[in-house]
Amino acid sequence: CGIAACILKNGKAAPILLGCVKRLEYRGYDSVGIATLNSSIIIAKDEGKIKDFEKKIDLSKFPGRIGIGHVRWATHGPPTKENAHPHLDCEGNIAIVHNGIIENYMELKDELEKKGHSFESETDTEVIAHLIEEYKKSGHNLEEAVRKALKRLRGAYAIAVISSDEPDKIIGARKESPLIVAKGERGYFLASDTPAILEHARNVIFLEDNEMVTIDDNGHQIKDLEGNIKEKRFKYIKWTPDMAEKGGYDHFMLKEIHEQPQVLRDTLREIKAIQQVVDEIREIKRICFVACGTSYHAALVGKYLFESILHIPTDAIIASEFQYTANALDEETLTIFITQSGETADTLNALRAANKKSKTLAIVNVLGSTATREADHVIYTRAGPEIGVAATKTYISQLACIYMLAATIGQKPDIIEDLRKLPEEMEKILEKDELIKDIAKTYKDESDFLFIGRGFSYPTALEGALKLKEITYIHAEAYASGELKHGPIALIEKGTPVVAIAPPPLFLKSEVHGDKEFRNSHTLTLSNVKEVKSRGAEVIGLGSEDDEEFKKNTSDYISFNPSIREEISPILYIIPLQLLAYYISVMKGEDPDHPRNLAKCVTVV
Ligand code: G6P
Repeated sequence: CGIAACILKNGKAAPILLGCVKRLEYRGYDSVGIATLNSSIIIAKDEGKIKDFEKKIDLSKFPGRIGIGHVRWATHGPPTKENAHPHLDCEGNIAIVHNGIIENYMELKDELEKKGHSFESETDTEVIAHLIEEYKKSGHNLEEAVRKALKRLRGAYAIAVISSDEPDKIIGARKESPLIVAKGERGYFLASDTPAILEHARNVIFLEDNEMVTIDDNGHQIKDLEGNIKEKRFKYIKWTPDMAEKGGYDHFMLKEIHEQPQVLRDTLREIKAIQQVVDEIREIKRICFVACGTSYHAALVGKYLFESILHIPTDAIIASEFQYTANALDEETLTIFITQSGETADTLNALRAANKKSKTLAIVNVLGSTATREADHVIYTRAGPEIGVAATKTYISQLACIYMLAATIGQKPDIIEDLRKLPEEMEKILEKDELIKDIAKTYKDESDFLFIGRGFSYPTALEGALKLKEITYIHAEAYASGELKHGPIALIEKGTPVVAIAPPPLFLKSEVHGDKEFRNSHTLTLSNVKEVKSRGAEVIGLGSEDDEEFKKNTSDYISFNPSIREEISPILYIIPLQLLAYYISVMKGEDPDHPRNLAKCVTVV
């Protein structure tokens, strides 16, 4: 979601706000709304795109130089008019816009309902408006009431609040969701991000977590949640609005790759919702993952995870193939559909078939999408809107949900502990940008790549190859390393680049293979690396930083923390491969955000 607010010296806030939220549309586009303040609050909101909303509303009906605006990416409650922001308190004296997720909103809602509050939407945001109202009723001014309300919230928020009881001010606050304060010729602004306001103001303060700002005609004041004043300086922003939309990155894809640590943190918050789903689904003897494209690679990781660690028979099926194989589903099968958009036609067809025979669960990024309406159960990935056609951050969020699901079903809390360590490791990998650029420069003119990996690294090889194909148009093949000798090794010539993925191995106590006899994926992939190297391949290795044996058999090496073992590696090891594809694409003069012949969402079979 994106929020914006303004307090102008003169003139009308409504058209300015609309312009601001338009610039935030890349943060969400399922509903939109504004509220302005004269002597009372006037509000308009609707589901759908801003351009349709703009046609419907009559801006002359919005007096007032103060207002708030919102563009929504639904998280709690489907995209409907009622769930669109701004939200009001009981009396309609307080209006709020919010970006983030309030984790304890159900508890707060119960508490407020007992005190007589009634709610019009299913959102977590409306609860904040009522909570502020409750504190105002007990005698606090707006700023105090907001502060008290914020202290009750668990989760993430960036908010802007106006009230007709104090009609000369705006209050903003943030925790784990971005919020900026900007000052320009026309007045003050608040926004989720700089592109919203650059047309009007270039002097910006980036608020930090647990900071609140009160803006009125005398200026602004930033305080912490204890009420202590914080002095902060404005920074001058030189970006053009287009650069700002991409957060200063050259492309959405690069921005989205860099958002992945935060996406993982946000998705990890879904653990409670996942526990709830698992409680509802009992008696599962078999799992069948179904998906397309990148989502299919997440499904394949699911198969390795559920079979090797939880010992639950699991399939991963390409959605368009589902109709030819899916005759063995029954009531004890859970069919899990992974789809970023929730609208992919092949996936929806398979979902409709599976609904007749098995329990179904959809793992989806877009709230209110068809898959969320048709599956028996839903888990949301919290990646936010993904603009780049090649999926990156949604893949990470899908993997996170699959791991949380496995941890919950298998009662293995250590998996969650491992996941919590990953955002920091991701940040370290993202810092290896220069190394990956160098590798991209070395290999950008090659015509064929091979990607190899075993076990959990096989889906990573597939996804790495897919990224390269999608945005660089270089032919790339991925193989389970053991398959090399059965054919693809014939392709190796002097100089063929082979990307080999071999994290430290997982030593499984396997009933089937026995402890001792089971040869681990790492040793075996290293043998394959030596085989291709001796035939002239240039090996680009992805492995542990203390793996000297692997390093010495590679031409280029991307190293990871040795504590990241095979079973958790897919979430981390894909990142340099996304970057490699991205930089090769840019170096070849292609547009990674809009690859030829591809669509973000394929609604035909
Ligand atoms: C398209 C996109 C891919 C995506 C696939 C599945 O082909 O270009 O990036 O992985 O659809 O999309 P879904 O929305 O179902 O995850």
